[in-house]
Amino acid sequence: MMSLKHLSLSINHTCELKKFSVEFVFIGKTAFITGGSSGLGQAIASRLSSQGARVIIADLQEPSKPWPSDRGIFTKTDVTNPESVRQAISSQKSQLDIIINNAGITHQPIPMHQCPLDSWHQVINVNLNGAFYVMKYGLEQMVKQNSNGGVIINTSSIAGIFPQGDNPAYNCSKAALIHLTIEAARHYGKYKIRVNAIAPTAVYTPLISKFISESKDPNLIKDQLQYLSLIPGYLPEPEDIAAAVAFLVSDEAKFITGTVLPVDAGYLTM
Ligand SMILES: NC(=O)c1ccc[n+]([C@@H]2O[C@H](COP(=O)([O-])OP(=O)(O)OC[C@H]3O[C@@H](n4cnc5c(N)ncnc54)[C@H](O)[C@@H]3O)[C@@H](O)[C@H]2O)c1
Repeated sequence: MMSLKHLSLSINHTCELKKFSVEFVFIGKTAFITGGSSGLGQAIASRLSSQGARVIIADLQEPSKPWPSDRGIFTKTDVTNPESVRQAISSQKSQLDIIINNAGITHQPIPMHQCPLDSWHQVINVNLNGAFYVMKYGLEQMVKQNSNGGVIINTSSIAGIFPQGDNPAYNCSKAALIHLTIEAARHYGKYKIRVNAIAPTAVYTPLISKFISESKDPNLIKDQLQYLSLIPGYLPEPEDIAAAVAFLVSDEAKFITGTVLPVDAGYLTM
């Protein structure tokens, strides 16, 4: 009969093995991450890289921390410019296995009839048109690679499922991203390409800090953000979103496609 000591050793051993197999699942994979220089994109890049992926950070701005060249590269990319996106994707020599379509911006809440046209166009251009260009050229590349398939994650938001405040352009851009996700999942399953979206609640990143500091009443906004979670006083960290993404892009999720995963501390159940 197994003693308690043996049982605990055997459990520890199994956990170690499991940890190992989960930790390095992206060795040999390349991940193209838009908006990877900051916030959620940066956390996702670090997470995938720490599990063995080579990352391509496609962003307007350079990463705040230098990126070791053996773990990936930065390629200056403006997602609102289709040629910039096409170039960033097609110039890569390695196979493209993972795309994290994550670059995004927001603007201050404003009722629809007062929303300046340029705010509308800016947000739709980055969050929706940009995401579409990345999918268009990314899918083209993945289809060309034939049998190996690929995985795409679109960063939507709880705002794409349930509109938040007076933010028509942001809400609509994130809702439309869910439709792009489902449409692509339906067509590209036959190429072994999985396409999913995540819908995070508020997470403290430079985007949210700017949103708070530029608002008329930063303390009120900070207070309101706490209610975007079922867990009192707790909002996810960027690493929590990165963990969900790491699962979705891994083979552990090989039968998950065309779905939207809320990473929202239960907010959408309220
Ligand atoms: N932080 C949140 O609370 C939250 C919640 C839900 C969804 N999101 C979404 O997550 C994504 C990342 O947000 P974040 O909070 O990490 O923001 P962030 O501002 O920290 O990072 C966004 C990154 O996108 C880049 N970017 C902006 N415009 C670009 C362009 N035209 N071309 C290329 N790169 C561009 C920025 O340079 C920046 O590095 C966004 O799509 C956002 O809408 C964020």
